[in-house]
Amino acid sequence: MNRPPESRPAEPGFDEVELVILAALSVAVVAVCLPALVVALPLGMAIESRGWRRWPAVVAGGTLTGLVVLAGGWDAYQHTIHSLWLHLRSHHPFRPVELVALIPLGVVGGILAAPLLQTFLHHRNEHEATRHYRELSQARRSRSQAQRTVGRATWPMPDGRTVLGIPLAGAIPNWRLASRARPVVAAPLDAWRRQALIVGETGSGKTVTALTLAAEALRGGWDVYWIDGKADPGTASAFLGLARLAGVDPRDGTREPLDGWRGDPEAIINRLLATQAFTEPYYEGVARTVLRRAVGDHPPRTFGELVGRLDKRSLQRAARDDNEALDAIRSLPDKDVAGVRARYDGIAWAVGTTLDGTWSYEDTRAAYVPVGRPENRHQAAEVGAFLLEDILHWALARKRRDRLALVIVDEFSKLSDRPGAAVDLVERARGCNVAVVLIAQTWASLGPDDTIRNRLAGTVGTVIVHQLKQSDEVAALAGTEWVLQRTEQTRTLDHTGLGSQRPGNRYVVHPDDVRRLHQGEAFIIHGGHALKLQMRRPRLQGPEEAQASLDSVADDRPGVPDPRSGGTTPTGRPPGLPA
Ligand SMILES: Nc1ncnc2c1ncn2[C@@H]1O[C@H](COP(=O)(O)OP(=O)(O)OP(=O)(O)O)[C@@H](O)[C@H]1O
Ligand SMILES: [Mg+2]
Repeated sequence: MNRPPESRPAEPGFDEVELVILAALSVAVVAVCLPALVVALPLGMAIESRGWRRWPAVVAGGTLTGLVVLAGGWDAYQHTIHSLWLHLRSHHPFRPVELVALIPLGVVGGILAAPLLQTFLHHRNEHEATRHYRELSQARRSRSQAQRTVGRATWPMPDGRTVLGIPLAGAIPNWRLASRARPVVAAPLDAWRRQALIVGETGSGKTVTALTLAAEALRGGWDVYWIDGKADPGTASAFLGLARLAGVDPRDGTREPLDGWRGDPEAIINRLLATQAFTEPYYEGVARTVLRRAVGDHPPRTFGELVGRLDKRSLQRAARDDNEALDAIRSLPDKDVAGVRARYDGIAWAVGTTLDGTWSYEDTRAAYVPVGRPENRHQAAEVGAFLLEDILHWALARKRRDRLALVIVDEFSKLSDRPGAAVDLVERARGCNVAVVLIAQTWASLGPDDTIRNRLAGTVGTVIVHQLKQSDEVAALAGTEWVLQRTEQTRTLDHTGLGSQRPGNRYVVHPDDVRRLHQGEAFIIHGGHALKLQMRRPRLQGPEEAQASLDSVADDRPGVPDPRSGGTTPTGRPPGLPA
């Protein structure tokens, strides 16, 4: 709606005389301060781009300027400028060497002016453009400072908290801890009792984040088990190293196979069935009948033994005292029984002997379990489902209820072809004091359809998102917040002083901000709040070993097992850990 012309506020006009005076004054000030500006501008740019702190320059520049002024530097400066002015105006004699007198005050004044100029530029007004650049500058400086600080050797070790990194923006209530050098993000341990999700592109830092979480949970007295869908030797040695540092003697599933056959016959049959996706109920029925007879009252101890029993004649022999079972086996077509055998033969080949060992989760406080063998990744989904079903059985039937445990499933996408086991685990394990952390590269890789993904999303209490291009669904988990949106009216290059405000909503975590995250940076979404942080790296044995281990985390190639991962004694126990 147009307002009558007489009620419009007068538009600002340009007073040319005023402009000329302003320009002349600016030129004069720049000319007089030129020696200081020569120092201030590059120093200011360095402070800005490298995120250096401003106060050292203010203190050093201020002190030195005071000393130089006391020593007569200001008089020399004034005198030289005056002589130069007379030389330019009335050709008074002036020797270029006299310019040296400008240097002392120019240099120290430049050091003092560098941070002050910047502060002035960013706070000269509250216009939208100034605010925008101020926010960009603050974000850039926080990032550089956090990246520098995150490499420091010592982190606080508060009881009952997991120290995750340096905050960059946003906040989650009660997750921030004041530390001597800088505040740190220190999530209460209890926050992980609800399931968590770590999502991010390859190389964005998910595994390092989960290693940090594992180390902090171990420090807090939890049991931690790492199920590695990638079966990556670098991750294995990093996890085992940090467990030893926490004073725990971990089990290494790559060297000492896990016993995947614990539980009663029914549990083992369910575990074996979970490995398969059946297209028709008929085939599931055949598999169930065959497995029931093959497992019998004395479950097999290895996949090889199971496959040996999956033969029609062996099954008939095993069921010879049970007429009903014998009839059931006889009625099955030979080719269907052979089909069941072929399915489990494939898994036996993928697993090798990695599930035929002597220990399980209830025997240890920390364990690394590869999903299959690195050189044989084709049936990771089936093997993973078997492992997840075994973990669920451990959680429900074998675990000590009073122990708090964290199960981290790295590269969950490799296991999510058989989502039933994963969803069951995530939904049911919490009641048994088992927290699950799932790591995936994309939202889509969490499950084959929206129902599964939504069930998983509904269960998780915390989402850690690293850099992700398709970030809309994850960002939507944090929801939106109420804001006042401002607009400004401008004319030519000037602000009219007019504007408007209206209430609106904006993303708590904007998808574009997720796309722009750097390696090691993440958003954490928890309870409708979100914060951005620079994740720390976990502390491993020594700085060199830690670096080597962590750098090899991203290396996907199967390698020679790390000789360090076996038999070393605990190097120490952080205070506060239960025996
Ligand atoms: N918090 C961090 N600080 C510094 N560097 C990091 C951090 N997190 C990760 N990195 C670097 O990024 C590399 C890759 O990290 P990581 O292996 O955790 O990625 P990822 O997301 O698990 O990748 P993938 O999906 O391929 O498994 C690490 O080797 C390390 O050099
Ligand atoms: Mg990884």
